[in-house]
Amino acid sequence: MTNFQNTLYYGDNLDILRDRDWFPNESVDLIYLDPPFNSKRAYNIIFKDEEGKYPPSQIEAFDDTWKWSDETEEAMWELAKPPYPAELYRTLEAFRVALGNNDMMAYLVMMAIRLWELKRVLKKTGSIYLHCDPTASHYLKIVLDQIFGVRNFQTEVIWWYLWGGRGKTKWNRKHDVILFYTKGEKWTFNYANVLEDHHLVADGSKSRIKYKGALVHHRKGKETEIPSDKVLPSDIWYIPTINAMSKERLGYPTQKPIVLLERIIQASSNEGDIVLDPFCGCGTTVAAAEKLGRKWLGIDITILAVNLIEKRMNEHFPDVKFEIRGIPNSVASAEKMASTRQGKFLFEQWFITTLGGQPFKSSGGADSGIDGYLHFRDINGKSHTIIIQVKGGGYNRENIAALNSVVDKENASMGLFLVLNNPTKQSLSEAASAGRYQMPEVERTYPKIQIFTIEDYFKGIRPDKPDTSMTLNKAKREIRESEKPPKLDL
Ligand SMILES: C[S@@+](CC[C@H](N)C(=O)[O-])C[C@H]1O[C@@H](n2cnc3c(N)ncnc32)[C@H](O)[C@@H]1O
Repeated sequence: MTNFQNTLYYGDNLDILRDRDWFPNESVDLIYLDPPFNSKRAYNIIFKDEEGKYPPSQIEAFDDTWKWSDETEEAMWELAKPPYPAELYRTLEAFRVALGNNDMMAYLVMMAIRLWELKRVLKKTGSIYLHCDPTASHYLKIVLDQIFGVRNFQTEVIWWYLWGGRGKTKWNRKHDVILFYTKGEKWTFNYANVLEDHHLVADGSKSRIKYKGALVHHRKGKETEIPSDKVLPSDIWYIPTINAMSKERLGYPTQKPIVLLERIIQASSNEGDIVLDPFCGCGTTVAAAEKLGRKWLGIDITILAVNLIEKRMNEHFPDVKFEIRGIPNSVASAEKMASTRQGKFLFEQWFITTLGGQPFKSSGGADSGIDGYLHFRDINGKSHTIIIQVKGGGYNRENIAALNSVVDKENASMGLFLVLNNPTKQSLSEAASAGRYQMPEVERTYPKIQIFTIEDYFKGIRPDKPDTSMTLNKAKREIRESEKPPKLDL
């Protein structure tokens, strides 16, 4: 690719990968993907506040269960037509007979259509590593066999760790599966690097673990050591997971250790090669790629992930250069984004976080009239809430009145109504009739209900609200300042 730019994309990887200007055929050397597992668990992204504590409000950033829906049905139907091969569709149909239209089936269909696109963008000499858990790996392997060809299956890597629950009724689950396929018969494999970094093998439950060097084997209390030069780099890797004390921990729930990604990138790419992670989370792959002198592309559907990666890259690599795409930069692009069902969700997340708010999805799923929150502290350090609601389409004075009721019901201080369309006179007068919010012990008042448009945002205007960056220490300092006797002007 000429004029290559390291790039972070915000959006659904299927839409982004299908853009052939961004992702031409055979343009990427190495792909690593760690899609959310089909584990029926909703991940919550929890950020620490400035005192290092977790705030009570958790932001549901993405739901890792891909449910059977109209979208999955549509994807399945797409797969039944060219350019997709009949074998793939028929394999999925066979799965459907075995599984029914359940969550696992939805997961497999959504993965199949994306893996097909990933094969298109992979160079003939490229490699792909799919990170999955043992509840789905056997199905995914069949899907990969159909797409990449059985002959191009290279390795099933077992990533082994000690983290997780301990039970006494079965073997404790302590590994993930990483399926490694190549696109063709020739591929990069830097054996010398792999050899250097090899073997972290342990014997199981009770004994010591040797990280470098020998394999220790326990049998009837006897220990056998195999000299390290006899141990080949193999498909079982011991790498500790990121624990609460790890320095590299960013608070992103599914963050993978950078060592894992460094091993894959060092083995399966060369300096200057292009590495792609279409489910890039908090950016472990792109950070490892940057560290090892590779070019990189990352995609994520969660704005918090994109913001976190931006921060991680700038903090860890002060000279790094990259672009961010998929984020609105004009009224027209915001309108375009909000015009589709999924785009509406992306628009909401982006608008809330860009104003410093936290997106929120109530766990019950019912529309609570709350799309996000902003919090601020008054001069006494007491925390107050601003409720955010976003409207990508039409709205009227009833919607404004409804937000005012939610603010009262939730005991919040203010309501921020973020919109694409400019308000009518009636909506403006409804907002004004809610009155003003008086911040404790400060002269200043703010509109209790405020309509803020995307047009205002791109004009550089910001909502009229208290300073949400006020920290406890700053508040205390301000109190001390205000209590100082006034300077006498002599
Ligand atoms: C398991 S996490 C990846 C963690 C990553 N390996 C790391 O070390 O931080 C999966 C990521 O996929 C993202 N995701 C889920 N569906 C997506 C989609 N359709 N397009 C792009 N990203 C998606 C989620 O937002 C989440 O950040």
